[in-house]
Amino acid sequence: MAYEYTLSIIKPDAVKKNVVGAILSRFEQAGLRVVATKMLQLSTHDAEQFYAVHKDRAFFQDLVSFMIQGPVLVSVLAGDNAVLAHRDIMGATNPKEAAKGTIRADFADSIEANAVHGSDSLENAKQEIQFFFSNRELVE
Ligand code: CMP
Repeated sequence: MAYEYTLSIIKPDAVKKNVVGAILSRFEQAGLRVVATKMLQLSTHDAEQFYAVHKDRAFFQDLVSFMIQGPVLVSVLAGDNAVLAHRDIMGATNPKEAAKGTIRADFADSIEANAVHGSDSLENAKQEIQFFFSNRELVE
C-alpha cells in the first residue's frame, strides 16, 4: 500500500449545514489524517482556475457560482491509498447514486450541492494540493 496525500474540499452547502466536524470525523474514522486545513472564501477566479478541467462542460458556470456561495474548508488528507480511500468515503458524485453510509449519501442534496470534493488521481492530488497550500503549510 502506498502512503499518499489527497485534497479534500468541504463545499459551501456542508459548511452552511454545520457538518464540517462530522465530515472530518469520517476521514479520521477511515484512518486518514488531516495534515493541513483552512477555511476560505473562493473568488470567481479561484473557482474557475480550480475547476478549469470542466470549463467546457454545460454545468461549469453553475459549479463556479455554487462554489463561491460561502466559505469552504480545504484540507490535505494523508494515509494508505489516500486518493482512493477518500473517494470511497465520499461516495458517488451524484448523491442519488452514492452508497449507504458515504458522506454524499448522508450530507449531499444534489449533484451540485454534493458536500465534498476529492482529488480523482494521485497526479491531480499533487496539483490540487499545490493550488491551495504552500510547502510550509504541509507540516507532516
Ligand atoms: P466535484 O467532485 O467537485 O467535481 C466537479 C463537480 O461538478 C462535481 O463534484 C459536481 O458537484 C459538479 N457537477 C455539477 N453538475 C454535474 C454533472 N452533470 N456531472 C458531473 N459533475 C457535476
